[in-house]
Amino acid sequence: MLIVSSLAYAAQVQIAISTDHTDMVLATNKANQLMFMYYGTKVGCPQQFEQFQSYRRSDYSTEPLAYPARGGRFFNQPALAVKYSDGDANTELTYSSHETKNISSDVKQTTVLLSDTKTSLEVQLVYTAYLKEDVIMAHAVITNKGKKDITLENYASSAINLKASSYLLTHYYGSWAREMQVEHELLTHGIKTIENKMGVRTTHTENPSFMLSLDNSSLDENHGEVIAGALAWSGNYKLQFQMDETDRLSIICGINDYASAYTLKKGATFSTPEMIWTFTTSGAGQASRNLHDWARRHYIYSKGHLAYTLLNSWEGAYFDFNTKTLTDMIDDAAAMGLEMFVLDDGWFGNEYPRNSSRAGLGDWQTNTQKIPEGIAYLADYAHKKGIKFGIWIEPEMVNPSSNLAHKHPEWIVKSSGREITTTRNQWLLDLTRPEVQDFVFSVFDETMKKGEGKIDYIKWDCNRHVESFGSTWLTEQSRFFVDYTLGLYSVMKRIREKYPNTIIQSCSSGGGRVDFGALEYFDEVWTSDNTEALSRIFIQYGTNMIYPAATTGSHVSAVPNHQTNNITPLKFRFDLASTGRMGMELQPANMTKEERTFAAKAIQSYKQLRHLVQDGDLYRLVSPYDGNHYALMYVSKDKKEAMVAAFCIHYQGRTKTPKIRLHGLDPQMKYSIEEINNEKPSFWGNGKTFSGAWLIGQGINPQLVKLYDSGIWHLKAQE
Ligand code: GLA
Repeated sequence: MLIVSSLAYAAQVQIAISTDHTDMVLATNKANQLMFMYYGTKVGCPQQFEQFQSYRRSDYSTEPLAYPARGGRFFNQPALAVKYSDGDANTELTYSSHETKNISSDVKQTTVLLSDTKTSLEVQLVYTAYLKEDVIMAHAVITNKGKKDITLENYASSAINLKASSYLLTHYYGSWAREMQVEHELLTHGIKTIENKMGVRTTHTENPSFMLSLDNSSLDENHGEVIAGALAWSGNYKLQFQMDETDRLSIICGINDYASAYTLKKGATFSTPEMIWTFTTSGAGQASRNLHDWARRHYIYSKGHLAYTLLNSWEGAYFDFNTKTLTDMIDDAAAMGLEMFVLDDGWFGNEYPRNSSRAGLGDWQTNTQKIPEGIAYLADYAHKKGIKFGIWIEPEMVNPSSNLAHKHPEWIVKSSGREITTTRNQWLLDLTRPEVQDFVFSVFDETMKKGEGKIDYIKWDCNRHVESFGSTWLTEQSRFFVDYTLGLYSVMKRIREKYPNTIIQSCSSGGGRVDFGALEYFDEVWTSDNTEALSRIFIQYGTNMIYPAATTGSHVSAVPNHQTNNITPLKFRFDLASTGRMGMELQPANMTKEERTFAAKAIQSYKQLRHLVQDGDLYRLVSPYDGNHYALMYVSKDKKEAMVAAFCIHYQGRTKTPKIRLHGLDPQMKYSIEEINNEKPSFWGNGKTFSGAWLIGQGINPQLVKLYDSGIWHLKAQE
């Protein structure tokens, strides 16, 4: 038993994990436990924590631990819970050593080694600090150095502790066709949990990310202390916020312990996924910009190239097409200036043709009735028209009506002796199994080969979640959820080794797999199946709080919208699509001549501005939750160029014009304003020049008063 005197830390060791504007400080107490002392603005020399006193009773529990383990004097939510072979369920970690190394000039990594006082369990806490972006990535590496197997019952990635007068949690919930809705709540005593237990389609309930405003009862875009966090894991996760009786908040994030006890064999190591943290004193906007910069510069697969505009066949053709339908769509896409055509679902299966969602998944042979000329013909056709070619696959899935399901029933996820349920008429393949990993890799590989080197883009879908979990391969069923995700990542690693330049989209019935774990391998996400511009405003507003617009697909589709029935003007749809990775998803043959002319112009303007959307700094100007308008802007890093977009989303009379104050500009610079995609400009300042200071202080007041009026302005600094 550790005897802890907490009256003073008398810390022997202080460890500062620092970025340009933040410090995270860990320190040992008298009992040599590693405590989480601080996360916030820079405090200078960490040695100051040596004198820190908390007045806590020395014989009553412990102070906040940096990686709290179940047992000993600790009784709050643990990050680590271990059961040993002798039945002992306590772990008491103490500090052994630490080291910091430079990964590059602006990335530093600190590793702290902890060990249990009784057993041979070791935990390394690894913190990677991205100095310029003020981001700290944290994970744990757990090693069983003992002679017997142990069971990890809980094995979170990271824990932090905070003390503030109030904690406002902003988080994102959603479902199919309504992802990433923003919710705020002031935390009270007890535990608030954000989690998912659906296994593979992990973000159709909640997203593994959040923002936390300290000492503030509302989310402020521009002021105040905000911590943002996101877990890089595409499986079950749990983010826990426990406010204790002393008003201290402990946040523990990691893989969900639900049905996931994990045996760690003697000598074995388990490495948890990365938890991403950022802290700022400049509000939620800066927290988003920190995450976006970090993601784009250091983490997500697609680094540094602009996304192509595209036409996707799904809402335009669904399962009903032949070669001519597709080549006509390619012609139309090229004529409107789009840069890629993506053939969605429906191109495969012969004995069990994929003419609906009821058959064909698993049989990845080109349907010879629909496309007798083959995929290479289509890809070649697109290339000859000067545009790129992409194709849809859903390699983790199988329909009962397929050759694959008959050939390999043992590959299907199921609990032994129970009925296998279908969702969207399909089952899930067991990616914990090496042969299934090989198969999923081969689906990708063989599809690429079908294109004979001319496939530029793969849309990877995943249209069901896990139910009746179980594997005929695993002896330990509680490894299923974790090993599935590790299996997926191992396949993605192989794919990336062979196909480093193929653009890959993570789709899962829209935004069902939107997390930084996926984005380490995928270039982008399909933000939602809901392509209706009004709903999409809310979906993109939430998604882009955490994930950069460079990763979020945003398509213009037909009206009435297939998901919501709503009718919005083509301009409104294009303007909204311009704030993400623009695409179209409709049958161009059904467009009028005027609509095509407008589309071609809007696509052309987007190409002039997309570097701002995809590489620039996002400023959310007016929240769609707050009133009649939604407005945002993207500013180039040198502040010489910006794009502002605004949308009227509620009719409130013809006289209530919005006042949109701009952000992120240089007050000293002078900017010209040009309205695009509009024959009749909605802002009187169109074509005029204003100082940055004026635009920040006074702002613009475009006449966006009718429902679904919208505008886009291009700001350029004058020399
Ligand atoms: C999912 C995707 C859609 C489309 C269909 C095809 O729902 O989210 O974009 O690809 O599957 O079946």
